[in-house]
Amino acid sequence: MSDPLTFVGSQIDRFRAELDEFLRIPSVSAKSEHDADTRRAAEWLSGRLEAAGLSSRLIETPWHPIVLAEWRGAPAAPTVLIYGHYDVQPVEPLDEWESPPFEPTVRDGRLYGRGTADDKGQLYMHVKALEAHLAARGSLPVNVVLVAEGEEEVGSPSFAPFLDAHRASLDCDVVVISDTGMFAEGVPSLGFSLRGLAYFEIHVTGAKSDLHSGEYGGAVANPGNALAKIVASLHTADGKVAVPGFYDDVLDWDEETRAQIRTLPHDDGAYRAELGVGALAGEKGYSTLERLWVRPTCDVNGLLSGYTGEGAKTVLPNRAMAKVSFRLVPDQTPAKVRELFEKHVARVAPEGVRVEVKELHGGRPWRAKIEGAAFEAAAQALEDTFGKRPVLMGGGGSIPIVPEMEERLGATALLVGFSLPGCNLHAPNEWLSVAYYRKGIETLVRLYDNLGGLSAS
Ligand code: BES
Ligand code: MN
Ligand code: MN
Repeated sequence: MSDPLTFVGSQIDRFRAELDEFLRIPSVSAKSEHDADTRRAAEWLSGRLEAAGLSSRLIETPWHPIVLAEWRGAPAAPTVLIYGHYDVQPVEPLDEWESPPFEPTVRDGRLYGRGTADDKGQLYMHVKALEAHLAARGSLPVNVVLVAEGEEEVGSPSFAPFLDAHRASLDCDVVVISDTGMFAEGVPSLGFSLRGLAYFEIHVTGAKSDLHSGEYGGAVANPGNALAKIVASLHTADGKVAVPGFYDDVLDWDEETRAQIRTLPHDDGAYRAELGVGALAGEKGYSTLERLWVRPTCDVNGLLSGYTGEGAKTVLPNRAMAKVSFRLVPDQTPAKVRELFEKHVARVAPEGVRVEVKELHGGRPWRAKIEGAAFEAAAQALEDTFGKRPVLMGGGGSIPIVPEMEERLGATALLVGFSLPGCNLHAPNEWLSVAYYRKGIETLVRLYDNLGGLSAS
């Protein structure tokens, strides 16, 4: 056989079965009870890369290993670095899954399971596209370095040190990542941005123990009340983040991209209905897509204080905790936001409680170079597969290693994603379109071909 696309068609059932096998390994990076499973997923993936014809090994880190696979049989061609992650988010709440998270199940053309969209399903598309080229033609049109990490969902603590330690083997002309989505079904998309992240815990402590709320209420500061006051101070009435200085480094997006965003079909009413909310929220003066993609945010991710069991308990809690995170846009940095946030919290904290801010993790925002030969190669591959020119879309989420890779490796990154809106990333009933699993592989087959036609640096 000589055509990789014909090979994909003839092998698609096996490609699906293999993905199921990958998805059955519960590689939940956040939970130490799954450490052995997470390693098993890395070993499994590495084995499949070897079977496809690449040379692959595990790079040890202090936590979860990194899979590093290479094929360098085209010295005159460019080198593509493929990045993805084999770890997944925790699955709770379990009782909201219609089929168990680690038993991949097809319903209505959707493959359900944790990691189908984020990111095992999309990462495995690359493995199969590489296999298709190697099986059909005995070679790849580009040199390839594939890097799959197991700590993306926990903030990628080992990745920057890995980049520095293996800088020489990671030299590349372009970085390709399939860990984002498409704007809508039938609308192929290329990513023009990712937001950054600055994630904190606020700990508020009061008296030496919980107290009777009648005996002491009115005389002693209540950490629950104090935390509510701090949280309420984070936004202004018109939905802006009220931390002084927060917007100082926010760049206005170029008019071209903003105009492009306005051309995308988006309906607030339908969006509201889909999410089951009576009204949308956020910063005044910006459209929903702008608020999602090019504006920064602040959100409570968790709250803990006092008695939350059955019935009433009259108690003054002696502690309260909130998880609060900011999504950042260029040129904000997690370090500066931390400084501003700590100052703000210290200023608004009421007397009589101790308040401590802890940083959990952070990542810088990223903005794509939306022009050039590599970008065009991806646009053409998407167009040839989906029959339409791709649109540009922003990414509300974060992949903190993207700016780190671009900077250290001097290569531009392409975000070519295949998940669909509503695919329940990080939530119960995550899914990937079965048809788009195949279309994704086909797009990537074409993308490598197109990139092979570009000149190497
Ligand atoms: N694949 C997502 C990032 C993403 C999702 C980008 C949707 C664009 C649209 C990634 O796996 C993720 O979940 N990242 C975390 C980052 C964190 C754990 C440091 C996020 O965005 O919360
Ligand atoms: Mn992901
Ligand atoms: Mn994720």
